[in-house]
Amino acid sequence: MQDLGDALNENPDILFLGGGNPADIPEFKAKMHSYLSNVLQSPEKLHKLLGVYQSPQGDLAVRRQLAVYFKQLGWPVSEDNLALANGSQSIFFALINMLAGQCDEQKRQLLFPMAPEYLGYADQALGDEYFTAVTPKIELIGEHEFKYHIDFDKLVISNNIAALCISSPANPSGNLVSHQELARLDALAEAHQIPLIIDCAYGSPFPGIVYEPQKLPWLKNAVYVFSLSKLGLPACRTGIILGNTKLIKDFVQATTVMNLATASTGMVLLNELLEHQALDIVCQQIVQPYYRKKRDFIIALIKAEFSHLDYRIHLAQGAFFIWLWLPKLKITSSELYQILKQQGVLVMDGAPFFFAIKDDYAHKQQCLRLSYCQEESVIQSAIRIIKNTVEKYY
Ligand SMILES: Cc1ncc(COP(=O)(O)O)c(C=O)c1O
Repeated sequence: MQDLGDALNENPDILFLGGGNPADIPEFKAKMHSYLSNVLQSPEKLHKLLGVYQSPQGDLAVRRQLAVYFKQLGWPVSEDNLALANGSQSIFFALINMLAGQCDEQKRQLLFPMAPEYLGYADQALGDEYFTAVTPKIELIGEHEFKYHIDFDKLVISNNIAALCISSPANPSGNLVSHQELARLDALAEAHQIPLIIDCAYGSPFPGIVYEPQKLPWLKNAVYVFSLSKLGLPACRTGIILGNTKLIKDFVQATTVMNLATASTGMVLLNELLEHQALDIVCQQIVQPYYRKKRDFIIALIKAEFSHLDYRIHLAQGAFFIWLWLPKLKITSSELYQILKQQGVLVMDGAPFFFAIKDDYAHKQQCLRLSYCQEESVIQSAIRIIKNTVEKYY
């Protein structure tokens, strides 16, 4: 991540297919502009935006509105099951360090049922060895696609496991965990009396960057973590956690120490979206179709440019990344990343996403993550350079 930042500082014109910033979507910005104008014209709303510390759990009225929103999906929740925080990254920091670590002479760990996983968890642990993970089953689909599945035969939950954690749609692969897989994880969590954390940063119901009809199910043992970032509001730093009341209370105690209060911009905009019953409309009519078009564009481009190469892309079921697998690469993906950077293209090396896999695993060094949030011309130039570079090392 540090390397990405340095590369951007050194060469601001680099073709940037790295990072997790959402796209700049004009219709979304226009909507936010109009909601923010409403807020600025109302003295009470403006005061709430700028002049008061919000409750550490997040504004009660917003939590009530959110509870109604989830109840409409059939979820049995109230405002006490919800807390807001300054970005979902900070929610994970609290959760990871609340659950994992030394406890009663035992080192408790978070288990990722399917690596690769979101790199942002990697450096959040306050101690060593907080994470463990299982490699996926790989289903080859046709000539150029593949899909990860949870390998339940390898998923052993020993009594030092503090929680299961999975992102869906996954960052980096765009994989969507099926309802059956989620139900099995929930049952395992229940049997071991541990939470199942589901990172919904890209998923349904919001921001809803999912290209399949699948809805997120309500699961008894799940702790859901949502974010407004990928909707288009990363600078607002708003994350939402939904879980049982005991966990939410513990979470709020921990975050009050760290943050005192929750930032209000995202909360105020969320309030407007919910009040106008516009959240689902924005997700389904603006955000999702925008990314779907981009996804189709980059996939068509890769198919055309890479046709003579042995490559596979993970089924792009959600989020805004292409997970490119280059099984015949003669160098490591980390080396390829560095070479591409010299050629003026910044992608994400796939290897760090396997941070919780300690064993040798060849697949670790064969993947790249490409974001498709940039303009089409940038994507086009970048894919051509990637193809020309990969050709040399095949
Ligand atoms: C899977 C996943 N989870 C969580 C986050 C953190 O997002 P934020 O702190 O902006 O809510 C990200 C950001 O890229 C992500 O990709």
